[in-house]
Amino acid sequence: KTPVALLLSGRGSNATALIEACNAPDFPARICLVLSNNPDAPGLDMARKAGLPTKAIDHRPFKKDRTAHEQAIHASLLEAGAEAVCLAGYMRLLTPFLTTEWAGKMLNIHPSLLPSFPGLHTHERALDAGVRIHGCTVHLVTEGMDEGPILGQAAVPVLPGDTADLLAARVLREEHRLYPRALRHFLDKAAPSCQAETALLVA
Ligand code: GAR
Repeated sequence: KTPVALLLSGRGSNATALIEACNAPDFPARICLVLSNNPDAPGLDMARKAGLPTKAIDHRPFKKDRTAHEQAIHASLLEAGAEAVCLAGYMRLLTPFLTTEWAGKMLNIHPSLLPSFPGLHTHERALDAGVRIHGCTVHLVTEGMDEGPILGQAAVPVLPGDTADLLAARVLREEHRLYPRALRHFLDKAAPSCQAETALLVA
């Protein structure tokens, strides 16, 4: 099994889905570290209770030196033996330092059908735009925010009477199905010759 680290900032429901997937004997990943920039993240607590190694590296003492914060994260990822990283609700923008160090080996899940609605408040913006189909995307992390090659997407309908919360819950259920599938697909295919592959995975 490939050692994979998870980075999160909050509740950690996607991390939970990945951890549960890793419990299956035939899943190609094992979680070697769950790391957060937020020492109080419920997701860290969840991981601790699941018996996984956890670490908090609070960004606040680093003040505005984002690279120094990321150097500390990078050192922890290496120390844990991580060979890939999944961002699972990690809510800090990454600098070119970390995206370069982990190029081709760092995945992110984003709550929209990229390239539509990168950034924050995706469900409100999808409702405001009047789209009828919304969803989530797993992609490789590159320097540009929410811009890397798409590994998988799952779509949900936007229904009459939807609120942002209703839509978010519908998308989140799909996130939990998509992320493990996309990680499995990524690891099964990962080989130096096809790292830039952008195979579509529709849940
Ligand atoms: C998820 O919906 C994830 O897609 C989103 O944050 C939420 C985290 O929830 N990520 C982003 O918006 C990244 N730009 P979780 O902590 O329960 O997994």
